[in-house]
Amino acid sequence: MIIGIVSQKGGVGKSTLTRLIAREYAINSWMVKIADMDSKQGTSTRWNMLRNEHQVEPIVKVEQYRSVNDAVSDYNKGDFHLLIFDGAPAASKETLSIAKHSDLLILPTGISSDDLEPTVRLAHELVKNGIQHKQIVIVFCRVGDSLPEIEEARNYISMAGYFAIDSSLSERVAYRRAQDSGRSVTETTFGSLNKKAALLVQEIVNHSKKLS
Ligand SMILES: Nc1ncnc2c1ncn2[C@@H]1O[C@H](COP(=O)(O)OP(=O)(O)O)[C@@H](O)[C@H]1O
Ligand SMILES: [Mg+2]
Repeated sequence: MIIGIVSQKGGVGKSTLTRLIAREYAINSWMVKIADMDSKQGTSTRWNMLRNEHQVEPIVKVEQYRSVNDAVSDYNKGDFHLLIFDGAPAASKETLSIAKHSDLLILPTGISSDDLEPTVRLAHELVKNGIQHKQIVIVFCRVGDSLPEIEEARNYISMAGYFAIDSSLSERVAYRRAQDSGRSVTETTFGSLNKKAALLVQEIVNHSKKLS
């Protein structure tokens, strides 16, 4: 399976979701590779170095590729079960290329209209380029505690014709701290936060199963 995690904006949660999904599949014995396409930031690459330093299990492989095709060729060798593209922001051409190779596309987004509007615009762009609606999954990230605000965002997405999972990722210090030490948001020191993040991935897994 190939999953692409993309958005036009930076700081919305692409790398966070990449690492979360990678970790959850890896702990279930999948061989997982992250293709870190954000060569400027190298966020997932750096994260993995910290992960190795702290000897966090399970091991997740991360590699920076010069092009989407290079990553796909590598994946086609058959050593991995799952390739996850951690996309770079403002990379329209590359995003399309990731999309064309992905079984599932995850669009993390904040829930302000400043964030939702470009997310829907990107989804429209993907559909215009032959991606199916059901391949696109929108995930609300770094949300606050207001349920009405999240509900409004969900309505906006559904009115636009897209699917947002029920779970969202709250903005939490512990999520940031975990990632700062090479861990995923299911590896914080708080069981309840880990559980919430795990449920979020479960929803994505369930959706991906419906696609095949
Ligand atoms: N739910 C969250 N709670 C707290 N901090 C978060 C959360 N999600 C992301 N962050 C932090 O916000 C920053 C940007 O997130 P990141 O996943 O790297 O976004 P992107 O890859 O889209 O640029 C990172 O420092 C990350 O640790
Ligand atoms: Mg990133």
